[in-house]
Amino acid sequence: MRGGVFGLLCSALLLAQDAVAQRPNAVRGNKPKKWVMRSVAGADYACKCYPGDDCWPNRGQWQKLNNTVGGNLQVNIPPGAPCYNTFQGPLGDVATYNAAECQKVTSNWNDEQFQIELPAAGLWTYFTNDTCRPTTTPTDTCTLGYYPVLVIMAKTAAHIQAGVDFARENNLRLIIRNTGHDFLGRSVGWGALVINTHSFQDIKFSDAWSGAGDYSGPAVTVGAGVQAFEVLKQANALKPPKIMVTGECATVGVAGGLVQGGGHGPLTNFYGFLADTALEFKVVTADGDLKTANADTNADLFWALRGGGPSAFAVIVEASYKIFEDKPSAGLHLDIDQSHTTNTTLFWEAVRVFHGYSTHFVDNGLYVYYELGTTGQNLHVHPFVGIGKTPEELQAVLEPMFADLDGLGITYTTSEADFPTFYDLYQAMFEGEMAGNSALTGGWTIARQDVEENHPAVISAFQTVVSAGSFLIGHMWSAGHGLPEEQWGDSAVNPRFRNVVDKLITIVPVAGNAPLADKAAAQDKLTNVVDAALREGSPNGCAYINEADPYEPNWQEAFWGETYSRLLEIRQKYDPDGVFYAVSTPGTENWEQIETGTRLCLKI
Ligand SMILES: Cc1cc2nc3c(=O)[nH]c(=O)nc-3n(C[C@H](O)[C@H](O)[C@H](O)COP(=O)(O)OP(=O)(O)OC[C@H]3O[C@@H](n4cnc5c(N)ncnc54)[C@H](O)[C@@H]3O)c2cc1C
Ligand SMILES: *[C@@H]1O[C@H](CO)[C@@H](O)[C@H](O)[C@H]1NC(C)=O
Ligand SMILES: *[C@@H]1O[C@H](CO)[C@@H](O)[C@H](O)[C@H]1NC(C)=O
Ligand SMILES: *[C@@H]1O[C@H](CO)[C@@H](O)[C@H](O)[C@H]1NC(C)=O
Repeated sequence: MRGGVFGLLCSALLLAQDAVAQRPNAVRGNKPKKWVMRSVAGADYACKCYPGDDCWPNRGQWQKLNNTVGGNLQVNIPPGAPCYNTFQGPLGDVATYNAAECQKVTSNWNDEQFQIELPAAGLWTYFTNDTCRPTTTPTDTCTLGYYPVLVIMAKTAAHIQAGVDFARENNLRLIIRNTGHDFLGRSVGWGALVINTHSFQDIKFSDAWSGAGDYSGPAVTVGAGVQAFEVLKQANALKPPKIMVTGECATVGVAGGLVQGGGHGPLTNFYGFLADTALEFKVVTADGDLKTANADTNADLFWALRGGGPSAFAVIVEASYKIFEDKPSAGLHLDIDQSHTTNTTLFWEAVRVFHGYSTHFVDNGLYVYYELGTTGQNLHVHPFVGIGKTPEELQAVLEPMFADLDGLGITYTTSEADFPTFYDLYQAMFEGEMAGNSALTGGWTIARQDVEENHPAVISAFQTVVSAGSFLIGHMWSAGHGLPEEQWGDSAVNPRFRNVVDKLITIVPVAGNAPLADKAAAQDKLTNVVDAALREGSPNGCAYINEADPYEPNWQEAFWGETYSRLLEIRQKYDPDGVFYAVSTPGTENWEQIETGTRLCLKI
């Protein structure tokens, strides 16, 4: 039976046209792998192995894996299961009701850190399919949805290696899960085996980096599971206090998806992306080897890991970064909402004024985090950040904007504060974020050129986004402002980011368990209305792989531009068979999740 299926696969593959695409390793003369064949609407697919398939590993094989990973293999029970009598899992039914546990998960559902510490939860639940949310009706049905099936709570690099080997040899869908923050659903996946990296919490500082490359300043080496708040806290305790590039969100990991997508934050105006500050990675590649990647060793892999896409080239076990002296900083909050005006024309005039200064803000080193349209007609700038600036210096940069707002005759609310370090400002002036919500997220960036040459088009795109029932989260920075141009090419991020002045996230709320037609409509709105407006409003912008529509049109160009062809070659070299998969990452052109986003398959 299997031989027959395999023969069919091989002959089908000989007909495959695209020389660039990944294909099953049978073609490459390696040990044959097991595939599940599918045919959908006249197209043939070779799929990974899932529960119920002949090629799904048997009990003994799982037990052997469990022994290899020190007993750290778990069957994944969705977080809401304690509120239900029974969890109807793919490996069988489990009695799960537990009043105290149900109470705990219900009250903590929106707490980021609570969700992060679960083995395989996704913080944006849309991509889990939401088939087991906490409930007060225990007789309702709880199923796994798109939560993964089994999890290795890895404690050592050897556990990660064992997980990669097992997934490769058995042709399983493999998910690397760090904090579960992912906006695109890349840290969950139907029928998957997860390697959870949360236990890798080591943090080690050095005054003078002595490893590869020509940098010799202070550095930090972090384990794969370290989150921003922890490393920032420890760096701040150094004398004098130090800081590193992280996202604006303190709970995102600093050695997982963030750096592999790039990693922008309040320090990006000065040092570029987190990826631009990387010195070295210890990784497990698709062949199961533990490798070092830095400027001297596996330099191609080192480059690709710096913004080339999460879960595409290797599993990061440990990462080393440059760190920097922290500086006194000033911040300011600005709000304009319906308590200030209900006049829509006037409100958008104010938005135009604010946004028209984006080039001015980044040219003066400001980082600006804002939300637009969260409650319909509101602009919420929390905050403007002046790192290394006194309150007077910050005011001086903002002065022309305030003069123009005053000229419009609009009122607004501000509050200002200054701090001995940026870290202190970060603690005091940034807002916390919530988990457990369901939405589709997209995004685009606004190029300097488009602000300068056709700003009305940018603002009219914003109006389209808000009137479609979406809203915007903006991050004003330029990744080329402080980083010397000769270093721009050291990372794999899209070169267009060096001339960006605003990086936007768009949100289209939609329930994770909505009818399929509603989900399709939401996806269509995101791609073809909301993000389409931004693409048109800033044709010289680009998209950020970590905060974007998973189905971004022309994603190769949008995410990477001219770096894409080199990334494709490196993917081919390090993961020719697609052991790793994350949507819209280099080399995944022929992979598809068929059968309503479930089975991951190669189109053949
Ligand atoms: C509230 C919020 C705020 C955010 N703010 C910012 C921001 O300011 N700047 C910014 O740049 N981004 C920001 N992001 C986006 C963030 O970059 C992504 O969500 C990122 O993917 C999170 O990485 P993670 O490792 O913490 O999460 P996970 O969801 O666990 O992982 C994300 C992806 O990385 C892969 N991955 C994780 N660990 C590893 C590893 N060790 N090796 C290989 N692959 C791995 C996963 O498989 C997955 O594809 C924000 C996201 C949220 C939800
Ligand atoms: C793995 O082994 C541990 C320790 O013996 C056990 O508690 C756990 O249930 C096992 N996991 C699976 C999936 O059987
Ligand atoms: C996912 O949710 C949709 C409804 O949105 C449902 O039709 C489908 O059966 C669900 N699939 C799984 C695997 O839970
Ligand atoms: C709304 O604001 C615009 C722009 O300032 C102004 O021209 C218009 O008269 C205002 N409308 C009302 C009803 O006040």
